This record gives sequence, C-alpha cells and structure tokens, in this order.
Amino acid sequence: MENYSYLALGEELDRENWVFTKYRVTTDLPMEKAAENIAAEQSTGTWTGISTLKDDIFRKYAAKVTAIDGDMVTIAYPVEDFCIERGAVPQILSVIAGNLFGLETIKGVRLEDVEFCPSILKKYKGPKFGDKGLRDILGRPEKPLVGTIVKPKIGLNPKDTAAYVYEAGSGGLTNGKDDETLVDQVFCPIEARTKAVAEAIDKLKEEGHRMVHAINISTNGQDIRDLAEDVQKWGATEIMVDVITCGYGAVQAVAEDPKIKVPVHVHRTMHGAMTKDPLNGISMRVVSKLVRMCGGDALHIGTLGVGKMAGDPAEGRLNQDACQSDDVPFKKVLPVCSGGMYPGIVPGVMKAAGNNIQIQAGGGVAGHPRGVRAGAMAMCQAVDAAYEGIPLAEYAKDHAELREALERWGSK
Ligand code: 3PG
Repeated sequence: MENYSYLALGEELDRENWVFTKYRVTTDLPMEKAAENIAAEQSTGTWTGISTLKDDIFRKYAAKVTAIDGDMVTIAYPVEDFCIERGAVPQILSVIAGNLFGLETIKGVRLEDVEFCPSILKKYKGPKFGDKGLRDILGRPEKPLVGTIVKPKIGLNPKDTAAYVYEAGSGGLTNGKDDETLVDQVFCPIEARTKAVAEAIDKLKEEGHRMVHAINISTNGQDIRDLAEDVQKWGATEIMVDVITCGYGAVQAVAEDPKIKVPVHVHRTMHGAMTKDPLNGISMRVVSKLVRMCGGDALHIGTLGVGKMAGDPAEGRLNQDACQSDDVPFKKVLPVCSGGMYPGIVPGVMKAAGNNIQIQAGGGVAGHPRGVRAGAMAMCQAVDAAYEGIPLAEYAKDHAELREALERWGSK
C-alpha cells in the first residue's frame, strides 16, 4: 500500500482538462503536507494508505497541488472527477469545497477561487436575461437601476405591499423586491401579493413608468419550479431565489425552465456564514461564479465598503468581476448593491462599482421623513447627481427629497 504524493509543484497542466482552485490555508503542518492532505481527501486519498488505490486510478483521478505561494495553495482536479453530464453544482461543491473544511490537520481553509474548464462550463446555460436583458425590460440602458426592498421585511399584507411598490415606482424606482424572509406567510399569501403587486406595476405602466418587482419564491426543491410558474401566471415580473438557503440547483431549475420568461433575482442571505471569515469558508467570488453558471440574472454583492453589511471592498470588486468578466461564455449578471444603502452613500458606491449596477435601499427608502415616494425620489436624485458628477450637497439645493434624506442620514 503506497502513500502517493499529490505534489506537482510547478507542473503545467492543460487548462482544458483540469479545474483549478485556490485555497487560503492556515495550518501548523508544513504547507506542502497540508496541501497534500486536502488534495488527497478531495480526490483519491483518505487518512491512510489503502489497498484499493491502484496506480491507474491515482494517475487518472488524483488532484494535484500545483502551486504554493505563502498561505495560498493551488489545487487542480482532473475533469473526470466531476459528474459533467448532470451539470450539477452540488457534486462540484462536494469535490472542491467538501470534507476539507473538517480536516483535523487544517486550522482554517478558505476556497478563494475556482476556474472551470470549458467542458464543464458548456453544460450550463447562464442567465437568460443578464444585465442587458434587465435594462431592456426597463428601458434604462446606462444609468444604475434603482430599487427598493419592501420594508418591514415581514408584516405587510398584500394590499399594503402593493401600495408600497406603487409609491416606490411613482417616486421613480425601477425595481422592487420582496425581502429574503418573506415567501408565503399567512399575513401575506404569495398569490394575493403577486396579483396585487402586478396590478400596481400595470398601473405604473399605464402612467408611463416601467418597473419590475421580484417575488420571493424560496422554497423546497420539489416545489420551487411549480411556484415559479405559478407566480409568473399570477403576474410576477421578476422572481427571487435565496441561493444559499435554497441551493444552486434551485436557481438553475428555475432559470433553465423554458416556461419561465422573467428574470431571476438572486439574494445571498446567509452567505456571511461562509464568506465573512477571511481564513475559513468560501469567498463570495466563488458563489458569484456558480450563480452565473446557474442562470441568476441579478445578484447581491454588497455595498463595497460602505453600509450596514459593508464587507471588504477588494472582495466586493472580485465578486463584481465574477458577475461581469468576459472569460466565461455566459451573459453578464447585474450586480446588486444592497444592504444599508441610503442616498448619502450612493456616490461612494457608484465610484467603487461603476454604473452597471442595481442600487437598492430598503430602510434608505422607507425611512425617509416623508415616506416611501419621497424616499424613492431621494434615491433617484442621488443616483442622478452621482451619474452627472454633481456633489450631493449641490444637487440637494433644489431637490428637497434628497436634502431631507441627507439631513436625516448624512453622507459619506
Ligand atoms: C436586502 O435584501 O439587501 C436587505 O434587506 C436590505 O435592507 P436595507 O436596505 O434596509 O438594509
């Protein structure tokens, strides 16, 4: 029973046939040993030599440690280790992000990046609409989309939810959405909510304003596609899935359903459990790459260094790049800057993230001293000012709603 070496430092591997991963590793072991432990556990090895691991199996299926740079380890997996025909993210994650997190020899490990080979990527369809498709629906080619999350996140009935959406649209917002904890509770049944919101959006359309609202359908695997089709039938203009709690397969099932003809907005609630610790977990960049493969049209990326869920701006940029890069054969995902957003931080967010984003505020709209419509107007005014390169304080001189928002929350 041999103990095989998984080290292949410096070896050039064919990018067509290997999946490359980068892990940040914290360990008391020599880094080579720790890296080998991971490569072994995630491919052909285990904690001891085994009689059933034959040379040909090792040669074909063993992962290889191809680089070690400080605490960053690159491990490549042969494409044969993946269940390509089923195009399934759960199996991919079990390989690249499975048992390794529990290894006794590793104090911390964070999956920072993954690069898939073309034979895996081509099994995925990516977004149906993407950033451009969303912009086409809304007739807004360049400026950031401006949205709101209906607040309070739970408690409003369908009529009050629709009234909120109508007020937000009347104030100029292009996007509305349910919050991550609202699905089909007794106080706000999804059928009645979807129909009421659809009426509000139709009314806005008659008045000359285009808006979409994402209905949250996050539910069990066996029901989610049916629910997506139902809400579409009831008039939903967009659908929302909480990807971490529902799973990537849920996003993929809905996005790839040919009957679904509306965009899929992807919320990342619970991602912090995996992404927040810089030394352990999975980076949001990896989550974004998987969401894009699975067909999410818009994805929350945070507010790049400002707001209630600020996060690391450098990570935010990597995440944005995963949504928008040209190196995969998919439409681009619209990054959604959401979480503690308010008018005073809009220029900072646009400076960091550019114009091809959806800027979205819940409290920063509903908390305006004169209510939702004025809050929506203040957000739009902040976006317009930043887009035109005019300082907020200057723009606020003749835009009362923005002035009141700045008085309440200040600016950064
Ligand atoms: C979200 O869905 O991003 C949050 O619920 C944002 O809410 P907030 O704008 O009030 O922070």
